[in-house]
Amino acid sequence: MKNKIHAKFTELFGEGGRFFASAGRINLIGEHTDYNGGYVFPGAIDKGIMAEIKPNGKNTVCVYSLDYDAQAIFGLEENDLPDQQWARYVFGVCRETIKRGGTVKGFDAVFAGDVPLGAGLSSSAALESCFAFALNTLFGNKIDPFELAKIGQSTEHNYCCVMCGIMDQFASVFGKQGQLIRLNCKTLEYKYFPFNPKRYKLVLVDSCVKHELASSAYNKRRASCENAAKAIRKNHPDVEFLSDAKRVWLEEVRDVIPEEDFLRAEFVIGEVQRVLDVCDALERGDYETVGEMMYQTHFGLSRLYEVSCEELDFLNKLARKMDVTGSRVMGGGFGGCTINLVKDELYEPFIEAAKKQFKAKFGHEPKIYDVVVSDGAREVK
Ligand code: GLA
Repeated sequence: MKNKIHAKFTELFGEGGRFFASAGRINLIGEHTDYNGGYVFPGAIDKGIMAEIKPNGKNTVCVYSLDYDAQAIFGLEENDLPDQQWARYVFGVCRETIKRGGTVKGFDAVFAGDVPLGAGLSSSAALESCFAFALNTLFGNKIDPFELAKIGQSTEHNYCCVMCGIMDQFASVFGKQGQLIRLNCKTLEYKYFPFNPKRYKLVLVDSCVKHELASSAYNKRRASCENAAKAIRKNHPDVEFLSDAKRVWLEEVRDVIPEEDFLRAEFVIGEVQRVLDVCDALERGDYETVGEMMYQTHFGLSRLYEVSCEELDFLNKLARKMDVTGSRVMGGGFGGCTINLVKDELYEPFIEAAKKQFKAKFGHEPKIYDVVVSDGAREVK
């Protein structure tokens, strides 16, 4: 990938660029908890975005996407928003850096990625973090890493209409090889957990389903949670986020909020606790409990949060039937991957069965990705 990027960069802009990279992410457990002030447990993966970049001494940005085989040129003022969606991520990062008092001047860039798009692996966070980190380094801004993650998150909010939480950008900036990170999304305290299970593998099974309305459905879920939190807050003023609420407090407002909001909140309150349980289990080397929690999460995401789909439920059920240790839909949902914790000896038969049975039912094979927990945003020398 680096060579391809460099060849295009030299063709378009000459020599003298610097390389930066960032990563997509997995999340072992803790879904839809980030914007509710709860815990998440992600890690960066060995698939990401790489860019070669050089300041150009002008006030315009010229960026070329190898994957789209397309170029975008834009200025750095608020009304210079480019038309192409992929370029809006880069534009947003420039604007959000500037809004935080950082310097951004014109630059030339070529980038490419190997995070599968729409698979729930946060290709957009990888792109944002790569550029946020690169601009911070190139223009000597010294913005701290949390703020770099927030630059990516605000880019989603302000330029891409997705009201996401902080998990993806956090994982993409803070990721470290072989480590998962538990983040408390309210206090922003975090802790690294070494992750190298003996006798198990983590594998992603990509349904290749992409949900058209995923971002509006996502924003709707968030609104439901905020509505539930607001109702609970009337009785318990200390509840800042839904994750602060106890299950019994939710019960108190059952009749005053829509049933849909109740179900969403029920999932979130359970999910926050599951992250803590999984971290404890991991420290004991108790993978059976980790796996069981993953199944519980899937059930909740499917029945209470309603972000699964037929294809993902099928893959989950198959995993259960084959005695796979843990399996669940990962990320925002509405398509994408299941993440599976599989005993070594079950790995081959499970993949075989998933491919065959999924194809028989849905007409195409799912894609399989082995998970390698890797480094996040960095300069590539
Ligand atoms: C998407 C969002 C994240 C998070 C997950 C669900 O990936 O970008 O902020 O909410 O969905 O856990």
